[in-house]
Amino acid sequence: MSGHGSPIPMTSRRAGPLKGVASVPGDKSISHRAVILGALSVGETCVTGLLEGEDVLGTAQAMRAFGAEVERLGEGEWRIHGVGVGGFAEPEDVIDCGNAGTGVRLIIGAMATSPITATFTGDASLRSRPMARITDPIALFGATAHGRSGGRLPMTIVGAADPVPVRYATPMPSAQVKSAVLLAGLNAPGQTVVIEKEATRDHTERMLAGFGAEITVADTDEGRVITLTGQPELKPQSIAVPRDPSSAAFPVCAALITEGSDVLVPNIGLNPTRAGLFDTLRQMGADLAYENPREEGGEPVADLRARFSPDMKGIRVPPDRAASMIDEYPVLSVVAAFATGKTEMVGVKELRVKESDRIDAMARGLEANGVTIEEGEDFFFVHGMGPGGMPGGGTAAARLDHRIAMSFMVAGLAAREPVSIDDGAPIATSFPGFEPLMAGLGARIERANR
Ligand code: S3P
Repeated sequence: MSGHGSPIPMTSRRAGPLKGVASVPGDKSISHRAVILGALSVGETCVTGLLEGEDVLGTAQAMRAFGAEVERLGEGEWRIHGVGVGGFAEPEDVIDCGNAGTGVRLIIGAMATSPITATFTGDASLRSRPMARITDPIALFGATAHGRSGGRLPMTIVGAADPVPVRYATPMPSAQVKSAVLLAGLNAPGQTVVIEKEATRDHTERMLAGFGAEITVADTDEGRVITLTGQPELKPQSIAVPRDPSSAAFPVCAALITEGSDVLVPNIGLNPTRAGLFDTLRQMGADLAYENPREEGGEPVADLRARFSPDMKGIRVPPDRAASMIDEYPVLSVVAAFATGKTEMVGVKELRVKESDRIDAMARGLEANGVTIEEGEDFFFVHGMGPGGMPGGGTAAARLDHRIAMSFMVAGLAAREPVSIDDGAPIATSFPGFEPLMAGLGARIERANR
């Protein structure tokens, strides 16, 4: 898992309008959490709609290594026989989380308060990402970490034998950090408290409550204060995973920029901590409707309908919206290139430590396709060229980053000349079936003949 196979160069070109229904895969964030909390409950958790991308399959494999039984019953249908909070066994071998930052960080949290030792690694992207944001708080519980310089993987974690509960204010807006602390707090006695200044995705809090943990959330002057009572017996659940808004973003944005398009993307999770992109697109003037809004499995859900939107205008995206659309800035920057005027993305420093440095990856790739960019450590401006205005004709480096790869494939659908990427293999981490899904809508995205 710690490396992809041969690169898969891909090219996307202008074609007819995109039409039809795009059924995107299950939510990646919720899928990781369903597998991990299933493994920490006592008895059998059933999951439907699980994302079967490489990232989540890695988490499933890791949970087996810690002693849970994880079984695939059918497409997206999984059964997890958990070992209970505090029941993790010591893995016999290194845990390879592939490309998955969420996977490795949540799993480190989940094992950090058990008296076991585990070593973690991942692909070149994951091995370059900062882990101090996780190892700092787990040290407060009594765990120790031995990693490479800069706090990078591979890394060995020695779990705390006598964990103490902690009170921790997250230093950056990160649901992964918050979740790692909460998962570590599960096996500490007493109350663990996490405080976040800005709300980040709250799937862990929702799911912990669903599994029967005692957890409260209060909005205070300090921020969101989350209090978890440790050492609960988690009760197994039936979880229906909603479809991923971050994956829906690709066919939605493709439809908005491709002339004549009209695409329905059904059953999308619209948790307000995730839906910032759609608010932004509507503010830019996108023809994007939420049809049939409803609640499923404790999460708000709707069908998204996106139509070609030639009148989109650049805006300044409010920085306090960043956490709710953090994974969507790459594809937003593509839409921005087809809007009129400048789109300003500010307060987005976290983009520099994702699967790639996403500001640099998008800036260089858009420039290669004729778009003017301004960037700084924590901002990124795109000068829009209007509908159909991006020249294209360039090749972008995907940098082992699924969202960079898919963003440029969306760009090529509306650019004047084809847009290429050096490697589409990482798309499988979060969106298996991206190519046939887009082809079904009428897109021309092809693998290079090699
Ligand atoms: C995620 C949190 C975000 C996001 C990632 C998934 C999660 O990361 O970028 O794709 O499932 O908790 P950060 O916590 O680093 O912001």
